[in-house]
Parts: sequence; structure tokens; C-alpha cells
Amino acid sequence: MGSLSRDDFTARWAERDLGEVVVSAKEIADRVSELGRQISQDYANRPPLLVCVLKGAVNFMADLMRAIELPVEIDFMAVSSYGAATKTSGVVRIVKDLDVDLANRDVVIVEDVVDSGLTLNYLRQYLGARSPRSLEVCALLLKEGEQRVEQSLKYVGFTIPADFVVGYGLDVNEKYRNLDAIYSFIGEV
Ligand code: IMP
Ligand code: MG
Repeated sequence: MGSLSRDDFTARWAERDLGEVVVSAKEIADRVSELGRQISQDYANRPPLLVCVLKGAVNFMADLMRAIELPVEIDFMAVSSYGAATKTSGVVRIVKDLDVDLANRDVVIVEDVVDSGLTLNYLRQYLGARSPRSLEVCALLLKEGEQRVEQSLKYVGFTIPADFVVGYGLDVNEKYRNLDAIYSFIGEV
């Protein structure tokens, strides 16, 4: 991680606001394959329901589900905790709820990044109350030393420094989600 320089950089349109590559597209692809393989083994006899937390986890979800060799089902929910700023307010609002019933399902929450952990903590309680048989988390990124709530994360893609990052689903003011790598953000919020 972090071994790539700006020379590897292809997203000219975003260049001005991006710092270094934090996780490259290749590193993401390799790790997502590993996570897919791991989940395929762990859930071999009980294909999970993958719950994507919109919008940030959408790229991760699309790649992860194709790396899992099981008849998984998917659903989406949208929460809002940030507004337009880069620090969490701690207040989570459900913007879109699930369509499926969780009773007796093996559920895996697919998240983009765990920062303070407040969003995930809220989601776990919210979904846990619907009687799933199991409820685990697969987070692409975990911010080092930032958690205000103790988290047990079954699957983590990468542990990264606490800086704000964008790309591969992660945004600032709804932009940069379409970058194929993860970059530190150095622009104006
Ligand atoms: P938490 O509640 O502080 O853990 O924040 C989790 C949510 O905040 C994530 O699902 C993201 O949507 C957003 N977030 C946290 N850190 C970043 C970041 O570095 N870039 C973009 N979004 C972030
Ligand atoms: Mg966001």
C-alpha cells in the first residue's frame, strides 16, 4: 500500500484535488478476490445475503459479489451520516431501507469505510433487531485508530491511515466515486 506515486495516475480530471495513491486498483482487485474466496469458504453451506451500504460501497459490492462463488443474494440500503462535511456527525439517518426480510438469513453488511464506527454501530443494531441468523461485516477500509465504538469486523480489506480518502466509491460532495483507485484527498471540501 502507498507504494505508488502520482506518476501512476491516470485520472487527469481529478488530479488537482488528489494526493497520493493510498490503495491502487491492482491492490483492490487482488484483495477483493481474496475476500471473495474467504467468504465463499466461510459461507459454503449457507449463501449469505449481502447488504450494500449505499452509495460508498457500490463499487466494492459489485466486485465482491462477483468474487464469491456461491448463490448470494443482494440488497441495498442507504444511510446518511455525513452531510457534506468530512467528519461524522454521529447522527445516522436511514435514507433507503432494505426490501427483503432478514429473519433467519446470514447477513453480511458490505461497507466502504469504517471511520468513527458510529454508522456501522447504528446499522448493526438496526439490522440485528430483525432476527438474522448471523450478522457480519465486510469493510473495504478501516481507518487506523479512529474508532469511537468497539468494532468486531469479520472481513477488512485494508487498514489505512486516518486521512480522508476518495475513489472506488468514496466521495467528497458526491464526486470522485468513479476513480478506480483510492487516493488521499487534498482539495477543498
Ligand atoms: P463513521 O460513522 O465515522 O464510521 O463513517 C462511516 C461513513 O463515513 C462511511 O460509510 C463513509 O460514507 C464516510 N466516510 C468516512 N471516512 C471517509 C473517507 O475518508 N472518505 C469518504 N467517505 C468517508
Ligand atoms: Mg459518503
